[in-house]
Amino acid sequence: MEQNTNRANFSSKLGFVLAAASSAIGLGNLWRFPYLAAKYGGGIFLLTYICLAILFGVPLLITEISIGRKTRQSSIGAFKVLGQKSNICGVLGLIIPMIITPYYCTIGGWVTKYLCTFAVGSEKEAVSDSFFGSYIGSTAEPIIFLLIFLFLTALVVFFGVEKGIERVSTILMPVLLVLVVGLAIYICTLPGIGEGVSYYFKPDFSKFSGKLVLAALGQLFYSLSIAMGIMVTYGSYMKKEDNLATSSGQIAFFDSLVGIFAGLIIVPSVFLFSGGNESAMGAGPGLMFITLPKVFDTFAAGRIVGLLFFALVIFAALTSSISLLEAVVSNIMDMTHMSRKKAVVITTIYCAVVGIICSLGFGAWSGVTIFGFDILDFLDFISNSVLMPVLALLTCLFVGFVIKPKTLIDEVQQSGVTFHTKKIYSFLVKWFCPIAIVLILVSSVASALGLFSM
Ligand code: PFF
Repeated sequence: MEQNTNRANFSSKLGFVLAAASSAIGLGNLWRFPYLAAKYGGGIFLLTYICLAILFGVPLLITEISIGRKTRQSSIGAFKVLGQKSNICGVLGLIIPMIITPYYCTIGGWVTKYLCTFAVGSEKEAVSDSFFGSYIGSTAEPIIFLLIFLFLTALVVFFGVEKGIERVSTILMPVLLVLVVGLAIYICTLPGIGEGVSYYFKPDFSKFSGKLVLAALGQLFYSLSIAMGIMVTYGSYMKKEDNLATSSGQIAFFDSLVGIFAGLIIVPSVFLFSGGNESAMGAGPGLMFITLPKVFDTFAAGRIVGLLFFALVIFAALTSSISLLEAVVSNIMDMTHMSRKKAVVITTIYCAVVGIICSLGFGAWSGVTIFGFDILDFLDFISNSVLMPVLALLTCLFVGFVIKPKTLIDEVQQSGVTFHTKKIYSFLVKWFCPIAIVLILVSSVASALGLFSM
């Protein structure tokens, strides 16, 4: 496959950083990060996460983005150009977003429903314990909201890299940042919130453990959109003259910042609402869809806070699903040379079908389980806990020992950019990242098999 010189580009470095950061910032930051932080001792989790973001997140981002930029191809073409004979990394970079996009849109549909519920003033309904369960267990409405969310995603991808993805990210990312910071400030002014804020930030060193490190590593994967073909694809649209290493640092910075602020919105307010009951934090998905509406109901400005919060979540989820869909569409375009519009239509129909199956898995087909998981959880497990670590591991080994880090270091140093930390990068990508990934893989599979709980 030839290196593609007529490829679409992000128009500027800022455009690239905002698009990649808005891919990274998603449900992982707003829902998963806060409850993990609360579960693993607040400040100590935050500290560990920040260290790992630098040691693990940034090198993996540099690796994927530089592979994309060097080859100007999405993952299938990229690993082929780099000479990977089996092209296993390239193929996984297509399969993983194909598994994730449909179920991410199913969850995006739930968020859309909550946003509408707050927008039309029916938020009292969302306060009842049974609202979430009976909503996702119904048939028609979750499918309609899934299709609305998917349609919005597809519309942006349809308009292409600069006119669709970059334009939407450049608008939504600043709005998202203002919302997350504004809501966090509001929460910090609530009477009696101090104890919850210090619970969130104060490092409880007694809670430091191997499990905490693994949870933080797993979260980094999820949160940074690594090992799902996205960053290779976005890298392929990056201009040669932009500084790839600093951009990767900025993406990790924005992503961590939003996670930390989201935690500041959620953890202290749930802490206050539950009277300091730590187990209230471990509610998992229920934290966002069941506990938070109850918490917002106790605020004087509950409806507006809820509305703004779910607007924040939907913007974050939408920009992430756009990047997931783009990773699939772009691979299809590279492989078949079909037009973007045709590729978007075909991929969207596929996502609608699989997304509907996931949605039915909570209702009409709730009896269907795969290895004990419901359909959505199974797709989540197989992608996040198995295939993503495998892809990241194979990518590190391929870069570290086959094409050698120098190939990518040269790409970073294009157009006179100096890669100051290239020695550290080589060490991290060859040794530190693969070892860390093997640990994540083993622990997540072991925890799924019930050998120990994460
Ligand atoms: N990084 C995004 C998020 O934090 O939500 C996107 C994403 C992560 C999508 C993990 C899917 C996924 F499995």
